[in-house]
Amino acid sequence: RTLRIGLIPGDGIGREVVPAGRRILEALPSSLKLNFSFVDLDAGFETFRQTGAALPERTVEILKKECDGALFGAVSSPTTPTKGYSSPIVALRKRLDLYANVRPVKSVASAVSPIDLVIVRENTEDLYVKEEKTYDTPQGKVAEAIKRISERASSRIATMAGEIALRRQRVRDSTGSGGAAKKSMVTITHKSNVLSQTDGLFRSTARQVLSQPQYKDVEIEEQIVDSMVYKLFRQPSDYDVIVAPNLYGDILSDGAAALVGSLGLVPSANVGDGFAIGEPCHGSAPDIQGKGIANPIATLRSVALMLEFLGEEKAAAKIYEAVDGNLEGGKLLSPDMGGSAKTDEVVEDILKRL
Ligand code: NAI
Ligand code: MG
Repeated sequence: RTLRIGLIPGDGIGREVVPAGRRILEALPSSLKLNFSFVDLDAGFETFRQTGAALPERTVEILKKECDGALFGAVSSPTTPTKGYSSPIVALRKRLDLYANVRPVKSVASAVSPIDLVIVRENTEDLYVKEEKTYDTPQGKVAEAIKRISERASSRIATMAGEIALRRQRVRDSTGSGGAAKKSMVTITHKSNVLSQTDGLFRSTARQVLSQPQYKDVEIEEQIVDSMVYKLFRQPSDYDVIVAPNLYGDILSDGAAALVGSLGLVPSANVGDGFAIGEPCHGSAPDIQGKGIANPIATLRSVALMLEFLGEEKAAAKIYEAVDGNLEGGKLLSPDMGGSAKTDEVVEDILKRL
């Protein structure tokens, strides 16, 4: 099988870590019978400055017509409001209907309190429909935003969470990792005690989906979002898959990333039906740009995550294993992890393990 992958480095350290993503795909063992072809695509603030568009139409067209998946680095946002600029990754999620944002948060196996969970965030609606207005009243200005939740979007994100829970169980069963104690669970996060209609619809739809027979081995749990934050920070090892509406998912996933130490470790994928874009969780990191010290691991794990959603679980497992080997080895770590290795040295070590 040959997969065509769009490479969108973007700005800042995106340009340093996306090439590492390409290298690891090229280095996968030939026994996997998997080949790759690549196409370089533009997006980001630099692209905006040069062309007036942060997301050129060519990029969208090529992704749609030619590519099986893509890797997105990071983009810089303008620091002052800039006419005509809007975030290319937000636009890409819409244009390609990438309705799920999937963020696994995993510590090394030897960690004192090991964490291995996935946050599945709805990616298309909730407050992110961005229907806001401000108006004057005799008491002063008032601003409003629409929070929209649909049965369709709630249903497909819950299905995604259920499928991920089953896949994680399969991986645990086949590798013997996690032990018998770790069982599949999806935690539905909401605030339906206050928002009984919007979050209420999310909650009841998710429950209904996960009660179907194909998910009979997946336990369903519910958490009100504030108590979710408390428990997630106190006892992260209790969680398996967490499904949430857009805004709660956004907040929970940055918070969960803090639990494993560095933003440079945490991957994500934007997933739709039949397409996935891997994207490290961090931004363009202007403070370390050009120094060659960015941690490439978030990107390498994003590549693996993209492969999982393209049905290449074996290839993904090889990458995860090689990355874990580097972290467990503890010798060639980048500065954000307390080491002094350069990006290239970390990549070389991981390629060697692969
Ligand atoms: P950031 O994630 O770029 O950096 C936060 C801190 O983490 C910095 O000290 C940085 O050096 C460090 N860091 C991040 N990734 C690292 C890596 N791979 N290795 C080592 N250290 C790493 O967030 P910040 O500084 O808030 O934003 C910088 C720019 O990135 C802004 O223009 C922001 O809008 C944009 N951004 C873009 C995102 C995206 O493209 N998805 C996400 C977050 C921010
Ligand atoms: Mg965020």
